[in-house]
Amino acid sequence: MEFKTLLQEREAGVVVVTVNRPQALNALNGELLTELESLLRHLESDASVRAVILTGAGDKAFVAGGDIKEMAALNSHEAHRFARMGQRVLLFMEKMTKPIIAAVNGYALGGGLELALACDFIYASTAAKLGLPEVTLGVIPGFGGTQNLTRLIGKNKANELIFTGKVISAEKACAWGIANEVYAPDELMARAKEAAAAIAKAGPLGVAYAKDAIANGLNMVKEDGLRYEASLLGILYSTGDQKEGMAAFVEKRRATFTGN
Ligand code: CAA
Repeated sequence: MEFKTLLQEREAGVVVVTVNRPQALNALNGELLTELESLLRHLESDASVRAVILTGAGDKAFVAGGDIKEMAALNSHEAHRFARMGQRVLLFMEKMTKPIIAAVNGYALGGGLELALACDFIYASTAAKLGLPEVTLGVIPGFGGTQNLTRLIGKNKANELIFTGKVISAEKACAWGIANEVYAPDELMARAKEAAAAIAKAGPLGVAYAKDAIANGLNMVKEDGLRYEASLLGILYSTGDQKEGMAAFVEKRRATFTGN
């Protein structure tokens, strides 16, 4: 599949997707969101894909937000539709069975940070700068920022970032629990690929069910979450992956998972 605004590179079950509008610091316009949704749906249905890494083209930006030039021309109805479209794509990422790692290589602002927050975890480079500056444009985050950031780091830190629109360093983002790790720029992709390779080696059904249990469990009271977790574990015992994974351990060999 060829895209105008995205690049993809595949290696042993891991797909690196690069947002590729460097002339606009990889800002998200309608075309890019449409292409991203289409690529992600394709990757989700491809059994050979085990993990995805999302990053930005160039050394300056991951994604500098929604495309302000495009957004400036929208009317009220179109702005609502744009927000719902972005939310739909980002929600799809959260629901995908394949984990997505955000490799934040530069500015992750507005919709760019929201895109990273929709990934399963974030590695950032020391060059990354993160923030939700929408109020400085007279609007609010529209791709889930008010919801996802608050759930991730709590109300008061989210309030501070969103109300002031300030931009924080990768180190601060790590200390606040937004990014899991901070690496030197030339190390970031190698570390993201290492993590993706570990995911790709694991049982894909186990990884998918773990993502499901964590994401859906967050919306449940703990006892319901525990029941859900136990049910998913039980279901995994009907799969070849469970039999292969445990047999391989007992036989002291590496497991070959098929995702069945
Ligand atoms: N939308 C459209 N174009 C953008 C953009 C954006 N979000 N961010 C940068 N660009 C463009 C610039 O207009 C510029 O293009 P031209 O050369 O054609 O003028 C090019 O990218 C390079 O940008 P700068 O010259 O501004 O680069 P800089 O190094 O001086 O500044 C920056 C970098 C601080 C990131 C600055 O570009 C900036 O503040 N960008 C906007 C960040 C922002 O406010 N993001 C939130 C957008 S709203 C949103 O995301 C809503 C939502 O929830 C979906």
